[in-house]
Amino acid sequence: MRIPEQTIEEVRQSADVVDVIGHYVQLRKKGRNFWGLCPFHGEKTASFSVNQEKQIFHCFGCHTGGNVFKFLMEYKKLSYVEAILELAAEYNITINQEEHADPREQSEKERMHDLNEEIARVFLDTLLKSPNAEHARSYFEKRNLKIQTMRSFGLGYAPSNKAFLVDYFSKSEEKTELAVKLGLLIKTDDGRLYDRFAGRIMFPIFSPNGRVIAFAGRTMETGTNAAKYVNSPESLIYTKGKVLYGLSIAKDDIRKTDSAIMVEGYMDLLALYQNGIRNVIAVSGTALTEDQTLLLSRYTKNVIAMFDADTAGIKAAMRSVEILLKKNMNISIASLENNEDPDSYINKFGKDALQERLAKAVDFLEFQTTYYVSKGMLDDPQKSVETIRELLRPLALVDDELKRILLIKSLAEKFHLREKLLEEELQVILDKNKAAERVPQQQRGITTKTQGASKAPVTLATKFAPLERELIRILCEGEPDVIKLIKTHIPVNDLANEPAKKIIGLIYRAIENDENVSLSAIVDKLDDEELEREITMIAFDAYIVSDRWEELTPSPIRMVRLTRAAQDTIKRVKMLVLDQEIQTLKAELHDKASDEQVTDIMMRIQKAINKKLEIEAMVFEQPAD
Ligand code: UTP
Ligand code: MN
Repeated sequence: MRIPEQTIEEVRQSADVVDVIGHYVQLRKKGRNFWGLCPFHGEKTASFSVNQEKQIFHCFGCHTGGNVFKFLMEYKKLSYVEAILELAAEYNITINQEEHADPREQSEKERMHDLNEEIARVFLDTLLKSPNAEHARSYFEKRNLKIQTMRSFGLGYAPSNKAFLVDYFSKSEEKTELAVKLGLLIKTDDGRLYDRFAGRIMFPIFSPNGRVIAFAGRTMETGTNAAKYVNSPESLIYTKGKVLYGLSIAKDDIRKTDSAIMVEGYMDLLALYQNGIRNVIAVSGTALTEDQTLLLSRYTKNVIAMFDADTAGIKAAMRSVEILLKKNMNISIASLENNEDPDSYINKFGKDALQERLAKAVDFLEFQTTYYVSKGMLDDPQKSVETIRELLRPLALVDDELKRILLIKSLAEKFHLREKLLEEELQVILDKNKAAERVPQQQRGITTKTQGASKAPVTLATKFAPLERELIRILCEGEPDVIKLIKTHIPVNDLANEPAKKIIGLIYRAIENDENVSLSAIVDKLDDEELEREITMIAFDAYIVSDRWEELTPSPIRMVRLTRAAQDTIKRVKMLVLDQEIQTLKAELHDKASDEQVTDIMMRIQKAINKKLEIEAMVFEQPAD
């Protein structure tokens, strides 16, 4: 369903963010913002903030943030469209039914979601009702899964007829085409179609917002060569490394408990969930990625990994630890006896036994040490030097210096080594890592010197370089004149990083088309949850700095300050772009042979230097004080 932009705008204008959120959260005005207890994570002091002027909210604890639609989507588990509809009803705004009746009006993504959800329902119905799904039902029964769990996770059964979905879609060419794109159907080279998942039990994979973006299908047969699990291929709506199975269902419990249990498999997750352990997510087979970690870090920093007890499981756990450490998560590891996985364990020994295991989870260092000791790696002096280096490697990933020192201490105690020695070893690794990092960072475009320093405070907003942040901060104030000023001086292509290009490009386009340039309108166009959070956070950052000041000053002075900040930033960006150009040219100089080429490059360098001087001397029209 598609709602006309004009109507969305009308809803946005009517549904005041303080008014709407105020229904659900007790808000108190303090300075420029309203504050309350965050409804998305348990807390005792208010770190949830709402800004009426910009019509956005942000929680400084759990980093949830966005506009009024986003709030309802998160709070009531609604889709974007549902959130608009709900507010429209509340504020008596009529939505023209005809205007959004035409399905071709929907975006392709929307149609893909809808189709996946339609098929998930077909699979679920088949599982629950079809006479041909008797064996699937008894399979789930054997594995102790209750109907309620099947419903909650939309599990299903794909009929064994390989032409089931082909026939199902046969009346609609459009749906058939979408189904191929989504991987529900496979198209052979000679154009024949067949069902990818025929005869498998089905696990829909959800986006964090609860849309069905892909499927996994498990075979019920044993001892065949068929792959145990078959997954949907990546598509417009599904990127494998960016999804955590179960997150859409578990996220509230993860926030509330401020911890997440990480398991490997779909079945592990379902077994725990069904037993009332609900703050659980599954990495589902592949190695944990940085994107997945970032996703999880919005809900909690504390992770207990409970992986299968086999060697593969331990290896996977150790690899995951490194990624988690890099993103400053706190990790502990819960182990199980040989040959058990969380699913088999809880079904054999019960919930209490499993919870005891979780309670006994150990710090990752402890876990690794125990593992190496059990492998005899510390018996032989030669090997133990290597092992200690191996143990130090993940430590080098810990950004927090204090934490690192404490970890060194405990490692030293364990092996009766001098701390100094370990510190020196660690420094070697740190230096090596730094050297490896330096190169790509220089290639990142608008990146100022401060970024290279590894001690920079770690915030969630890692997507933007400092100057980009400053630019976005100013643009997000939503002042058309200031935006136009920046737009005339800084073309989108002067920016090197995609996220900055995307948001700034959107703002430029909005002003070009005379559309609403307020932040709350812009974030709706982003279609990227992560960016939305980061950008609302940047907008709030600005307020922390200027809160008191702005409160005391009337708005003309605000415009003056804003304009000056914009002018200053424009200059700095221009200088940086030129600096980068000069650097690139200088680098080219080295491998140019002919005099002619050298002269040409020298001239171009001189030109850039002249331009820099010009910019330095550039005087903007001064805003009247
Ligand atoms: P497991 O082999 O441990 O499966 O793989 P499982 O989840 O315990 O399933 P059951 O209990 O045997 O039914 C762990 C995870 O690895 C991924 C799946 O996400 C699975 O849940 N996997 C495994 C695949 O993607 N493909 C495979 O062929 C096997
Ligand atoms: Mn299993």
